[in-house]
Order: sequence, then structure tokens, then C-alpha cells
Amino acid sequence: MISIRQLVCYGFALLGGVTGSNLEAQTLIPIVTSNNALVLEAGKNNDLSVIYFGKKLANDQEYKFIPSVYNQTSDYSDVLNAAYTASGSRNLVEPAISVVHADGDRSLDLRYVKHEQKQLAENIVLCSITLKDPVYDFQVVLNYKVYPKQDIIEQWAVIKNQEKGNIVLEKFASANLHLKAKGFWLNQYHGDWAKEMQPEESKLTHGIKTLDSKLGTRTNLFQPTVFMVSMNKPATEEEGTVLYGALAYSGNFRTDLELDYQDNLRIISGINNYASGYTLKPGEEFTTPSFIYLLSDKGKGFASRQLHDWARDYRLLDGKGNRLSLLNNWEATYFNFNESKLKELLQDTKKLGVDLFLLDDGWFANKYPRNDDKAGLGDWQENRSKLPNGVASLVREATNNGVKFGIWVEPEMVSPKSELYEKHPDWVVKEPARQEHYFRNQLVLDLSNPKVQDFVFGVVDGLFTRNPGLAYIKWDCNAVIYNAHSAYLGKDQSHFYIEYMRGLYNVLQRLRVKYPVVPMMLCSGGSGRVDYEALKYFTEYWPSDNTDPLERIYIQWEYSYFYPAIASANHVTDWGRQPIKFRTDVAMMGKLGFDIVVSHLSENDLAYCRQVIKEYNAFRHLVYQGDQYRLADPRKEAVASMAFVNKERSEGVIFNYLVNNRYGEGSVYPIQLRGLDPAAMYRLRELSLYPGTKSPIDSGRQYSGEFLMSIGFNPAISTSRTSVVLKVEKVKN
Ligand code: GLA
Repeated sequence: MISIRQLVCYGFALLGGVTGSNLEAQTLIPIVTSNNALVLEAGKNNDLSVIYFGKKLANDQEYKFIPSVYNQTSDYSDVLNAAYTASGSRNLVEPAISVVHADGDRSLDLRYVKHEQKQLAENIVLCSITLKDPVYDFQVVLNYKVYPKQDIIEQWAVIKNQEKGNIVLEKFASANLHLKAKGFWLNQYHGDWAKEMQPEESKLTHGIKTLDSKLGTRTNLFQPTVFMVSMNKPATEEEGTVLYGALAYSGNFRTDLELDYQDNLRIISGINNYASGYTLKPGEEFTTPSFIYLLSDKGKGFASRQLHDWARDYRLLDGKGNRLSLLNNWEATYFNFNESKLKELLQDTKKLGVDLFLLDDGWFANKYPRNDDKAGLGDWQENRSKLPNGVASLVREATNNGVKFGIWVEPEMVSPKSELYEKHPDWVVKEPARQEHYFRNQLVLDLSNPKVQDFVFGVVDGLFTRNPGLAYIKWDCNAVIYNAHSAYLGKDQSHFYIEYMRGLYNVLQRLRVKYPVVPMMLCSGGSGRVDYEALKYFTEYWPSDNTDPLERIYIQWEYSYFYPAIASANHVTDWGRQPIKFRTDVAMMGKLGFDIVVSHLSENDLAYCRQVIKEYNAFRHLVYQGDQYRLADPRKEAVASMAFVNKERSEGVIFNYLVNNRYGEGSVYPIQLRGLDPAAMYRLRELSLYPGTKSPIDSGRQYSGEFLMSIGFNPAISTSRTSVVLKVEKVKN
């Protein structure tokens, strides 16, 4: 007879719900969210396996029958579906952990010892499962932080060396999932500068597909940490079972997706172990970053709305707050400005009607002035000829104009032509005996060194201390790491990539203790850095330097699966050929900014911008906090459509664009809206109208929610109306 010792990590009624007691027998550990269950089992030998991850069952006593209804080939090892695969003993597939013990032995076997749960807050339960090697004094605690309402599981491992000597971790994943389905389709992303988030979907074949990065910094440049796996068939917005995965880590990462010989999918995600064997001294622990995942059996749309809700509630800094619209001077001036020019731009900021002026690159360094991207990084003193009265006078001038002031920094970096490099060559990441190799003419500072951490903290802290009115930071990171070598780490070079990230998080943590709410943008020479660990410290990220609005529709679309629109910093620039209205409409699908020469705008363009910024201020709460619906996919249709609807289902805003200029293209068919109350009545009204244009949308007509969701609406998109923003409002009874 099977006796079940059970823990249910969900539901107040079931909390602490331990039934049965026979530890020798099977222990079932269902980790349950509002829709799903991840069921772990400690079998008769105390191997901890994943026996199920899917829709939760009403009767949790039935989980134990799941393995018996599959008739796949045999598991010779008993650990093929391990919840954390240890290498070197019975395992035959990709491990989650490999270790070299103090005595040189390379074997590891992890057996279930105990599990416990803690209710950390309403809607947050932490389940911790302790595993131990029966031969070596080596322990791993698997942590599952569960946010039941949003179906999110955040998983990480704590690895402890209790042996008498040093051990070396050769692999140390955060999580190891095991899925069963009749086929798996991977949705992955690749990219480069100005080409971020290019999607690819493919059916996984047997063997291992690896998504990884070894760039050291800005590690998402070629491939981000996020992905999706559809099960049984490719999921759509509205249908299908899909797993979302996101490693919350800004350094080198690696996710292996292994379709094994039984046709099951094993997903192992964590820090990339490339060049990173990590020595743990006796008594030391290694805490992995967390892997965040959720399953949806209602398609990609539901999954992304769950993830957005979780991100705003628990992860993104100030996720429930507001954001500042801004005017940036990067593309307007590049490095070529001085105090009087900036003062004009401050007036333009006011004229435009945005909240803040953002001074970009080029304001610092004296011996090697930052007049192009070849010098000055590291010398964070105001350039005396450009800004003789310092940043302070600009902050004052901004205040006089009734706007806020923000500034660009790239504090992790150093130019070879800089005083910083001359003074502290040992602070620079470089192979001492090799020729330097540059990315955007610059090198990276060695954040594994506590002195460098102090310096980087000091750069930002100093700006705030000298300019208490400073209201915003754009934190950039343009270079990857070549010649990864730290003068500080001496013989422990294999710790470098990990210690760099620890150093970075340490600095960000210190800054956030001192400046908990100042908005900061996470930028990385375009994108290349956004992830859910970094977003603990940042209020927004920069999706791409590519601000051509047509391209941005696609880039923002893909990012929107994983990150909420409130975090997406979108600027109107002169990239692309679209009119100002089109550019602004696209930028309004997130946190709106401008990077244009206001004085070059025609009278109508300026009038349009001033008016639309007012409208944006009135509806931005919908974009920031509403439920996001991808209604029409630009990759599949001539018209792209994206909606944000509030939780009360009483108002929403819908963005629609022509993405195909062929003859006769436009909104031929209606677009089905989502997220409304079918029984309520709604009106549609066009916003963002360019001066002198009239809307063909009849704002007096009333439609039921049912009509708008099953028949649809027509934004009247055509080659003469290429972008249309509609407000949907419930008719008050
Ligand atoms: C990076 C950023 C840009 C701009 C420049 C400044 O490329 O992505 O927005 O700040 O650096 O050098």
C-alpha cells in the first residue's frame, strides 16, 4: 500500500496539510497554484522526481496514479525525471549539478531528506526541499517560491558544502523541469544591436537544444534568457498549453532543453557554467539565481497577463507606480552640446509638455573629453567647457522650467583613454599579457573588486549627493567582456563571471537602500540586459536603439510576452519614415519619451504632440496597469493591434497599425477585442488625432462587449490612416 506524505504549497485550508506519515513509502509533494500543479515524488529510494506538471486536479489523491498511466520505455537509472539531476552516479543525461568533492571524486547522488513550507505573505508560499548525498556530506535545498494567484513558480537552489575540504561546483543549475507531452515546440529569441527579440519557433527534436550567453555583461545581446515551450501543439494567444521560462540573471546563462529517449522534455536552466567552476570552502553555500516559470493551458495571452501581474506586484521596481514621460537629447545632439543648448532643450521639454529632461552621453570628462565614444568613460566629472556651471545649474534650470532632470551614466565601463584607466589599470577587465580588444572602444571595470564596487556606487551616489533634485538615471552598459580576467581575483579566475554579477547586484542593492524609488532605466547599447533580477532595481528597460516605429511594433510585441508595458521605455525619434503620429502612437504602448529636436517640428506636429501627451497622461494608467491583449499579430496580418483593458473591464485603449503597404491593405476584417464584459455596453472613440483630421469612428454608437469580442471592431486602417488609437469606454447606466 502506498502511504502518502503530502504538502500542498497552496491554499490556506491546505497549508500544513500533511497526511500519512510513512517516510519509507512514497512522499508526494504537489506544488499547487490556482490553475496548475507541479507534483514531486520522493520514491522508495528517496529519489526526488517530477511526476507531473499540468492542470491541477480536484482530487489531489489521484496525482500518485499519474506515472502508472504512461507506458513509455524504461528509465534504467531511476533518476531520468529527477527534480535536480546529480551527475556521476546513476544519471545518464544532462545534469543540473556536477561537483568535484574534496577527495577528487566526481560522483553525486541526491536523496530526499525533508520538506517544509512557509507562508511568507498572502499569495506567497515558500516550499523548501532538502536533498542530501548518502555518501558525501553534501546538501542541496531546492526552493520553490509559489505565487498561486499568478501561477508563478520561482525556483532556486542553495548548495552547501559540509565536507571537510574545498569542493568545486562544475554545474549548478537553478531548476530542472520534466514535462510530458506529445511533442514540444520551442519559441526562442535571437538578436543583435537594433535587431532585438527576433522570434523563432521550432519543434524540438531529440537531443539537447541550448540557449545561452557567454558575453559576461549585456548578456542578452544575441539571445535573451526568456523562452516558451508549447506542448502537444504550438500554442496561440488564446489556446494551447504553454510554459514560459525566464532566468532571473544578468550574467552568463544557459538553458538546456533535452528531449530524452523516452520523449519527455527536461529543461535545465541556470548560470552558464562556461569557464566558471566554482570552489566552495567547507561550510560555504552557493545560492543560484532564480528561474521563473509558469504554465498556461489557455494560450500565450493568459500566460503573459499572469506574468505581467506578478511582475508589477512583486518584482519590477515601483511596478504599481507611475512613470515619467521625458525628452532625451541623444539623437537630437549626440555629443555636441553645451550649457546654453541644453537650457534651450529644457525649455523645449516644458513646451512639449513631458515630465522630465534626460541628459544623455557626453557631459563628462576633462583630460580626455567625452566628445565621441572613444574617450572619457570612467571620468565622471562634468566637462568644464560644455558645462562650466556643472549639472547643478541644469537641475536648477529644469526646476525653474517646471520639469524634472535626469542623467545618463555608464558606470561599469572605462575608456582606454581616460584618467580612470591611467590611475587604476588593475581595475580593468583584461588579460594582462594579451592585446586589448574593444567593444564600442571601451572596456569593462572589474566589479568583482570591492573597491570598484565602491567606485561605481560612488559615481551614482555622488550625482545624487551633489544634485539632490536629480530625478532619473539612465544606466547604460554598452560593452561585452573580452579577455575575461580579474587582477583582483588572482588564482580564482573561474569565479570571475559570477563575482562580477554579485558585485553589480551589490552596487544596485546599496543604491536602492539609499535611493529606494528614483526611477532608473536599464539600457544596454540598445537592449541586451533586461531580466527579472535586474528589474528588481530598475523601473524600466530600453528595448532597442532601433526606434523605427515599424520595427518597434515587432520588437515591443515580442517583449510584451514577458515584460509589462509599464517597463518598456519607448522613445519617439527620427528613425524610420513614418509621420510623427505613427511614431508617437507606437511609443505610447509603454512609457512614452521623445528624442527629437522640438524646434524642428512643424507647427502642426508640435500641436499634435502637445495634445497627444495630454491624452496619454489621461490614459497611461491603462497601459501601465491594464491587462494587455495582443489582438492582431503583425507577423501574420497586415494590421497589428494591441489593447490594454483595465481590471474592471470599464475602459481600455487599442493601438492599431498598418504594417503592410501593399495595394488595398488595411483593416478589411473586424478585429476581435478581448477582456470586456460581454453584457456591458461600450463606446469607441478615436484618440491621437492629427490636427485637421476627422475620425470616421462613430463615437456615439454603442456596442455590447459580446459584439466587440465576437464580431469585433474596425479601426478603419488604410494607407491614408496607418495608425489609429481607440479608447473603449463602458457606457455608464
Ligand atoms: C547607447 C544607448 C543610447 C545612447 C548611447 C550613448 O547606445 O543605447 O540610447 O544612450 O549609448 O552613448
